[in-house]
Amino acid sequence: MTILFCSDSEPAEPWRLACARAFPDMAFCAWPDTGSRDAIRYALVWRQPPGSLARLPNLKAILVLGAGVDSVLSDPELPADVPVVRLVDAGLPGPMAEYALYAVLHFQRRMADYFEQQRTAVWRRHDELLARRWPVGVMGLGVIGAFVAQRIAAQGYPVAGWSRSGKSVEGVEVFAGATGFDPFLARTRVLLNVLPLTLDTRGILNSRTFTAMPRGGYVVNIGRGGHMVDADLIAALDSGQLAGAMLDVFEQEPLPAMHPFWRHPKVIVTPHVAAPTLASESEAQVIDNIRRLERGEPPLGLVDRDRGY
Ligand code: NAP
Ligand code: GLV
Repeated sequence: MTILFCSDSEPAEPWRLACARAFPDMAFCAWPDTGSRDAIRYALVWRQPPGSLARLPNLKAILVLGAGVDSVLSDPELPADVPVVRLVDAGLPGPMAEYALYAVLHFQRRMADYFEQQRTAVWRRHDELLARRWPVGVMGLGVIGAFVAQRIAAQGYPVAGWSRSGKSVEGVEVFAGATGFDPFLARTRVLLNVLPLTLDTRGILNSRTFTAMPRGGYVVNIGRGGHMVDADLIAALDSGQLAGAMLDVFEQEPLPAMHPFWRHPKVIVTPHVAAPTLASESEAQVIDNIRRLERGEPPLGLVDRDRGY
């Protein structure tokens, strides 16, 4: 019985060690080395090379080493009947909330202006610093989004969240579904995206969305690059409808050197670092899920493949 590690970007070594400790009787291979394909029972994946999970006749589950499963589900050769399991929490919400809070503070406290002023030794104060005048809106109120929303609310910002079901989150004003979207945007000064990328959410950060926000707002994208319509963001920034953006995720990663985001004065780019998966924080969940599957029990974090998250 073999565990296959399959990623185009992440190192296999921490997972090889974790699997050797937990399952000394199972073999471990890192793609493109698959050993005997018939022996592969579990695949640990992060952005697997397309087609790498095809023709594995005894594959029992695909265990995604992240919260988002869009890159896994987009593989045209993904086996149709094999369960896909994602990380749930696994150390991700804390770092995501830190990133989001930093972004809100950066914009609210006018840090870009002060960095710029320092370059020319300008001593000038900007007014309007009260957190209560900076309504934050969080798109996606799942395991991560709800945590992010509550962490920011705890700092005194009025926080609202938007999700499909509208399930309640203490301390957060909740909006739901298509009818709740415009009222949610209309009260939001800093828009934080923590949605999964699905057929329904692709391109949701577009000019219509930006126009529904009060003029001079900000956008922070820590969901996926596919949520953003890049040209619409640049147009909204250039027209002044938006005053700034902080972006961690991009349709193409690494962000190509010639992409206009790199040089736009109102855009901050980070290289998908809001919450990297750490084996130290997530291996217990992955190991536990393999044990559950071996016992015939449902794993934690089973993905609804039709819904896309
Ligand atoms: P999750 O628990 O599955 O939560 C997803 C949330 O999005 C739920 O609240 C869901 O609504 C909502 N949603 C989904 N489709 C929607 C739609 N069409 N309209 C409105 N709301 C919708 O996911 P999670 O663990 O919080 O992770 C969220 C995402 O964060 C991941 O998919 C990934 O893309 C991103 N992420 C990024 C990084 C990074 O480093 N930048 C790290 C980790 C994760 P319901 O509650 O009604 O189902
Ligand atoms: C990272 O982007 C994740 O989805 O866990």
